[in-house]
Amino acid sequence: MALPQSITDRLDIPLMAAPMFLASNPELVIQCCINGIIGSFPAKNQRSLDGLDSWLAEIGHALETAHSQTGRAPAPYAVNLIVHKSNSIIEDELALLEKHKVPIVVTSLGAVSDVVDTVHRWGGLVYHDIISLRHAQKAAQAGVDGLICVAAGAGGHTGAASPFGLINEVRQFFDGTVLLSGALSTGRDIAAAQMMGADLAYMGTRFIATSECASPPAYKQMVMDSALGDIVTTDTVTGVTASFMAESLNSYMLEHEDHGTLDINKELEDALDQKNNEKKPWRDVWSAGHGVGSVDSMPPAAELITQLASEYHQAVDDMSQLYKPFMADN
Ligand SMILES: Cc1cc2nc3c(=O)[nH]c(=O)nc-3n(C[C@H](O)[C@H](O)[C@H](O)COP(=O)(O)O)c2cc1C
Repeated sequence: MALPQSITDRLDIPLMAAPMFLASNPELVIQCCINGIIGSFPAKNQRSLDGLDSWLAEIGHALETAHSQTGRAPAPYAVNLIVHKSNSIIEDELALLEKHKVPIVVTSLGAVSDVVDTVHRWGGLVYHDIISLRHAQKAAQAGVDGLICVAAGAGGHTGAASPFGLINEVRQFFDGTVLLSGALSTGRDIAAAQMMGADLAYMGTRFIATSECASPPAYKQMVMDSALGDIVTTDTVTGVTASFMAESLNSYMLEHEDHGTLDINKELEDALDQKNNEKKPWRDVWSAGHGVGSVDSMPPAAELITQLASEYHQAVDDMSQLYKPFMADN
């Protein structure tokens, strides 16, 4: 297991709130970090580089203030960068991340050693999203510090692999930080992720239903009302396999028969285009993972983290009782 002490010292529980397009915002990131878990957002949630600059300044200022008021360093935060040829402004985004010395960069779609070297130069860490062993090996070769194993049932772009299979094989060649993603919703899930060999649990969908999250109220309500059977996994919407809530997907599918092809800039621009009345992936077709059935409340993030911590501690206590009859010295 490999989580640097500089991070464990700043966490209350081994959890990272995952970056979510259109959903994660500075309010959510700040509340996560000052309540002892890693918060994150995708760089593309800001429409302009100036906007990204001001979000990074806002987060940095809030975390410094919290540090000086409480005497305790908040958890580090992360920014998600899309490393894909269709992201034409990645150099400018990286320059801003360097300006603000962003502690963790989550890379999606491509793991490139140049990006890893740049982030390492300012002392940052790189965690990379993977859904297969081939991706994991390439990312490990590129020198990433962490691998986010996106297993079956995740919200957003999901993997199809069993979390057991994925983590076990990744651990055979990677001794960096391993994060587990896909349908984790409770404190018990966080403890289970650690037992499976992950250093950190990575939760997206659960954080949509928080008061800070930028998603519309009807989206949050649909997450609370949905269950596992309502999640559809399809590549029909964007050309990449992703999980959506059936109720929101159905009306879109009636209007669109074509498979999309991946063009990140177009996808993001379309989704951010408020004037466009056509239904758009992510903005109008709402994504959630297989963990929705455990989400039935929409608390502030601080309250959710307190609840997850209490469930986590209870689960760890319960587990030691569960294992007792099977321990060798019994
Ligand atoms: C609405 C939504 C948007 C997402 N957007 C992104 C994104 O922009 N970048 C990214 O790396 N992952 C994105 N993800 C994936 C999450 O980072 C994470 O892997 C996933 O939510 C974990 O599964 P869970 O939702 O079952 O907890 C998104 C997930 C959701 C639900």
